[in-house]
Amino acid sequence: MTSGPRVVIRAAGPDDVAAVAALERDALGRDAWSESLVADGVAGRVPTTLFLVAVLGDTVTGYAAVSVVADVAELQRIAVTATHRRTGVASALLAHVEREATTRHADRILLEVRDDNAGALAFYARQGFTELDRRPRYYADGTTAIVLARDVLDVSEGDT
Ligand SMILES: CC(C)(COP(=O)(O)OP(=O)(O)OC[C@H]1O[C@@H](n2cnc3c(N)ncnc32)[C@H](O)[C@@H]1OP(=O)(O)O)[C@@H](O)C(=O)NCCC(=O)NCCS
Repeated sequence: MTSGPRVVIRAAGPDDVAAVAALERDALGRDAWSESLVADGVAGRVPTTLFLVAVLGDTVTGYAAVSVVADVAELQRIAVTATHRRTGVASALLAHVEREATTRHADRILLEVRDDNAGALAFYARQGFTELDRRPRYYADGTTAIVLARDVLDVSEGDT
């Protein structure tokens, strides 16, 4: 991995809602969650789901949302602002998702990704995810979802 920026990963708070919702819109367009849904998630009103943000100084540069149910951690969202990509931000977020999954005793991380999202597919491949399934016409525009999975790595002693 690259040395990366001095990015801080922390739980999202109410002051992060606008930045996270903007990132949702930029990264996901018509599949984006609304600002009110993001606000509910950040406030802990979406059961099982934790929102994390990556912060450089005062700037939110990325976020992730993970839902842990039983032994599965579902990575529902991960996105980084275009100007901060390829600097290790998503890798840092994923390491914290992993830590959360370990804490909550999940042993597998699952996620869905559009089959036309080459950048994300490359990122997940680099992170060791492999294809589990395909869901045709999963997204609003008819695009297929690829379901990816990876065992949770034990990062409980890591320092990220
Ligand atoms: C996918 C995404 C989250 C990756 O975030 P990132 O912060 O740029 O990722 P990192 O810097 O941690 O990348 C780690 C490694 O993954 C691989 N990688 C990441 N993005 C890549 C890309 N666009 N093309 C090829 N490889 C890529 C590289 O091996 C990279 O290491 P390197 O930069 O040293 O070569 C980011 O591109 C993004 O926000 N995309 C839009 C939202 C999105 O598609 N989210 C996923 C939805 S399922």
